[in-house]
Amino acid sequence: MSEKPAATSYPVHELIRRRWSPRAFAERPVEREKIGSLLEAARWAASSRNEQPWRFLVAARGSPARERLWETLADGNKPWAAGAPLLILVCANLQSGDGSPNRLAQYDCGQAVAALTLQALELDLWVHQMAGFSVERARNTFAVPAPFEPLCVLAVGYYGDPSQLPDQRRQQEAGPRSRKPLDQLAFDGAWDAGFR
Ligand SMILES: Cc1cc2nc3c(=O)[nH]c(=O)nc-3n(C[C@H](O)[C@H](O)[C@H](O)COP(=O)(O)O)c2cc1C
Repeated sequence: MSEKPAATSYPVHELIRRRWSPRAFAERPVEREKIGSLLEAARWAASSRNEQPWRFLVAARGSPARERLWETLADGNKPWAAGAPLLILVCANLQSGDGSPNRLAQYDCGQAVAALTLQALELDLWVHQMAGFSVERARNTFAVPAPFEPLCVLAVGYYGDPSQLPDQRRQQEAGPRSRKPLDQLAFDGAWDAGFR
């Protein structure tokens, strides 16, 4: 069940149509070369004033970091994320180069992760982003210094066998993807004038 293509009202790029957030990962490790490509894709994202506020802490299975990052996850994420061979902690630098607060840091980090996610799919890899983790535990475990802020943990890997998932997660894995209609999300020249 690795394919759950988006039902779009306008055509989009194949990678955008195919991307979704799975929970069933194969044991197969992610090649270091491919991890490098994911990070390069993120590195070349646009950012406000080219601040590049993103930082990525890579934790591949077999390393102590992988277990320590997994430990920071919320209980709802731990069981399925245990199957992901690669976890990545995403942090944002909340301070601009000139010392002022960077109000766009999280925005820019999201953009970098979006690029990483699409690059992943191009390499047959899937990404599941998780806000469900302990920010403080991640900060302490990896000695993340201020003004960096842990934002998200990414589970990354090849698609696996959904029958290995806990019951409720297996159903979710097979369930439909949904979105608000485009005309509720995009306005044509005036607020609430839904774009069609
Ligand atoms: C910033 C962010 C945080 C998320 N946190 C979690 C999480 O902690 N656990 C989880 O199972 N899914 C998490 N998700 C996945 C979303 O639930 C998912 O992207 C959304 O339901 C849309 O589904 P799709 O990505 O398959 O299209 C997160 C997604 C994002 C972008």
